[in-house]
Amino acid sequence: MTKIPSRLAFRAAPHFIIGLMLIGAVAVTGASTPAAAQDGIVKERVDAMKRLGGAARNFRSLSSAADGVGPAETILATTNQLASMWPEGSTGGESRAKPEIWQNMGDFTAKLDALKGAAQGVLMAAKSGDLAATQEATKMVGAACGGCHRVYRLPKDE
Ligand code: HEC
Repeated sequence: MTKIPSRLAFRAAPHFIIGLMLIGAVAVTGASTPAAAQDGIVKERVDAMKRLGGAARNFRSLSSAADGVGPAETILATTNQLASMWPEGSTGGESRAKPEIWQNMGDFTAKLDALKGAAQGVLMAAKSGDLAATQEATKMVGAACGGCHRVYRLPKDE
């Protein structure tokens, strides 16, 4: 450090220490949730959600039970990927994930599992060749999407 008259050093010290503490706090926060990495995972899961949306839309125009197989498999695979896309505190900014997710991770995971179960139901019905049963089973998928969004997704910004 440069030489400072001791009287001045005495007066500057508290500010200097507080300054160091602030820098430390910023460094620590920055290390645990780097902004860029957070954007990355939010984008990844929003993309995954969009794949879910695309598959769910296909359920509305089934002309045979077999048409349900592909979208159901997409939902199953995507839900498996989604399971590991919620690192602690990855919300804020563009994300519509509610902070409550991290206070209720067990319930949130159960809701992802419910979606998986619903997609498995569609897959079974679709493979059985029964169109009416397949269409009925797709309602459970819609309910599983809504059941989670109502609790854990923030409303869209206007
Ligand atoms: C376990 C909870 C959960 C389930 C189940 C779930 N979602 Fe989501 N979804 C979320 C959360 C949380 C977000 C907000 C993510 C973010 O912005 O970080 C979201 C966001 C979305 C988005 C918005 C993407 C955008 O453009 O911002 C779409 C579309 C979507 N979900 C579709 C679906 C569909 C379709 C299903 C069912 C097939 C589904 N989701 C099931 C929790 C869930």
